[in-house]
Amino acid sequence: MNQEPTRSQTTVWVIDDDETALLLADDALSHAGFQVQTYTDAPSALAAAQTKLPDIIVLDVIMPGMNGFEFCTALRCLPRGAVVPILVTTSLDDTAAIDQAYAAGATNFAIKPLNWAIEIYRLDYMLRSAKIALDLLEKEHETRLAKEDWERTFDSISDVVTVLGADLKILRANQVAQTVFNRAPKAIVGRLCHELFNPGGGACPDCPVPRVLATGQPAAAEIKSGPAGGLFEITVSPVASSQGQITHFVHVARDLSEKKELEAELRQAQKMEAIGTLAGGIAHDFNNLMMVVQGCAELLLAEAAAAGRNREDLDAILEAAKRGARLTKQLLIFGRKQSNFSQRRPLDLNSLLRKTLQMVEKGLSKSISHQFRLGTGLHLINADSIQLEQVVMNLAVNAAHAMPVAGTLTYQTQNIHVEAAASHSPPGLDSGDYVLLTVSDTGCGMDEATLAHIYEPFFTTRNVGDGSGLGLAVVFGIVREHKGHISCYSEVGVGTTFRIYLPAIRQPAGESQPTAAKPPAMARGSETILIADDEASIRGLLERFLTRQGYTVITAADGEVALRRYSEATPRPQAVILDLGMPNMSGWECVAQLRQLDPHVKVLLASGYGLADLESRAVQAGASGFVGKPYNLAQISSKLREILDAPQ
Ligand SMILES: Nc1ncnc2c1ncn2[C@@H]1O[C@H](COP(=O)(O)OP(=O)(O)OP(=O)(O)O)[C@@H](O)[C@H]1O
Ligand SMILES: [Mg+2]
Repeated sequence: MNQEPTRSQTTVWVIDDDETALLLADDALSHAGFQVQTYTDAPSALAAAQTKLPDIIVLDVIMPGMNGFEFCTALRCLPRGAVVPILVTTSLDDTAAIDQAYAAGATNFAIKPLNWAIEIYRLDYMLRSAKIALDLLEKEHETRLAKEDWERTFDSISDVVTVLGADLKILRANQVAQTVFNRAPKAIVGRLCHELFNPGGGACPDCPVPRVLATGQPAAAEIKSGPAGGLFEITVSPVASSQGQITHFVHVARDLSEKKELEAELRQAQKMEAIGTLAGGIAHDFNNLMMVVQGCAELLLAEAAAAGRNREDLDAILEAAKRGARLTKQLLIFGRKQSNFSQRRPLDLNSLLRKTLQMVEKGLSKSISHQFRLGTGLHLINADSIQLEQVVMNLAVNAAHAMPVAGTLTYQTQNIHVEAAASHSPPGLDSGDYVLLTVSDTGCGMDEATLAHIYEPFFTTRNVGDGSGLGLAVVFGIVREHKGHISCYSEVGVGTTFRIYLPAIRQPAGESQPTAAKPPAMARGSETILIADDEASIRGLLERFLTRQGYTVITAADGEVALRRYSEATPRPQAVILDLGMPNMSGWECVAQLRQLDPHVKVLLASGYGLADLESRAVQAGASGFVGKPYNLAQISSKLREILDAPQ
């Protein structure tokens, strides 16, 4: 509370048209120590009050121009005019005048002639009362501000916060509680807590309150709440009286759904990463095996043809080896080690879709209707058209399997802008423009357990022999390689929707179709070739093949031996076929050292880890060419010829 002002700090206005009365008042009040200001008419006092108010007013009633009642009424309307105490003085002693004065806002009333020795006490008393009233008003104002502040804070908490009484009935609920439960405060306050979180079901299972009561300490639990549709982490903290009695509980419910979703996504990403590594590793080894089987079969076939022998069995071996190679190629794509590294170009997804689906439609049941909702002005994407065709085909074939009798398959494309920070954005995508491809079917749909595994290689629900379970694994791998995102929404008996986001580019359309590869030819030559590969079977195969094609072949099982053979050989080999992943010395190191020996050396680098940028890295490292494994004999012979025939 403020210090009481002394009389010398207190301003008294005396308003009276009677000069004598004014003089007497001025004299008495000044002697008593007050600061006195006199006015002979009410309007000039009212004008002065607009700029500054006195601490107290002594007011005559009957005055020309404006009487005391009117002055009172007008003053009370001024800002802070309501709190100035007014002593109305008049010689009128009828009670009607007193009533009228109070009605106009007077604080006190005195009858003239005034005995100032007494009236000064009255003024002191009025000032003290006014001070107390003012202090109360200020306190009330502060309390209101504090309450508003507290409510704003309470309402800005993003968790559901309720205050419970000892009987577990809700006393207060914050704004979020009203939003989450979609109820007005009236429909929340007074309810038992579990009526909100577990309506019709009694206390929530694992409710923390009994533990709080037993220990006097805060306790937490996770509960599933039906109406709010979420998983909540509940923390209940006790509020105790000064005697230590629990009088309230603060009940905080944090929505865990989003966190759980993120955790699940992370787990899924980690799982796919691990499976990818595993599949990629196995596929890499398989790749080499398949190459050998395929190559040997090709050699035998050539010999069989020359000798006019039956080639049926060899054809079968070759066909099986090719299928094996296709399978491992898909695993390599999934495991991010695709051997036919991407041929990315600016591409219009709409035209790719039309072209692919012409092919696909023919192969699918006639009872499926295909609908296209292709967006106009679609951004280009930087993509490998063959891989994207594979994506579209795999999705379409899966959808067709899900609709054995009849159904609708809808393909939709649209431009979409992704804000990475937005909560609804697909996880893992940078902000920017994307093209969204949506493929929906009205098929059998999938349950949650199936959905959780669809991208895993070899996961299939189809009969043994019908599906390899690689379709979506490949789609997943391709989308990820294109820095995109795939999501799937499915409902049993309703259908399935796949959404694929692919980053847009802002380049003008180039030729969007890949140029058709020339049919491979078994090129021949007479040069000396050094083959460096740690896989004996591949080395042997290449040696037999190239010798048959007329070349002289030197072999080496690792980089160090390769260097030695290269420097010792006379004449020097005209080309080296070098495997990147050899023990002792890396392929890169070996290229560097070969170039030191001979700056004009021609190296054809080979690798099963055909990452997208490997070809350009090979050229940067000084190699003349790159070939991804598995290669067939026609490919390797034409590549070899290409670099041998190229100018130095
Ligand atoms: N559109 C869909 N509707 C319902 N289930 C689907 C759909 N797409 C995929 N699935 C489910 O996901 C599983 C995996 O699909 P994926 O394409 O990877 O393998 P697959 O079709 O079984 O075999 P593959 O594609 O190798 O021939 C399928 O067996 C099926 O259970
Ligand atoms: Mg499939």
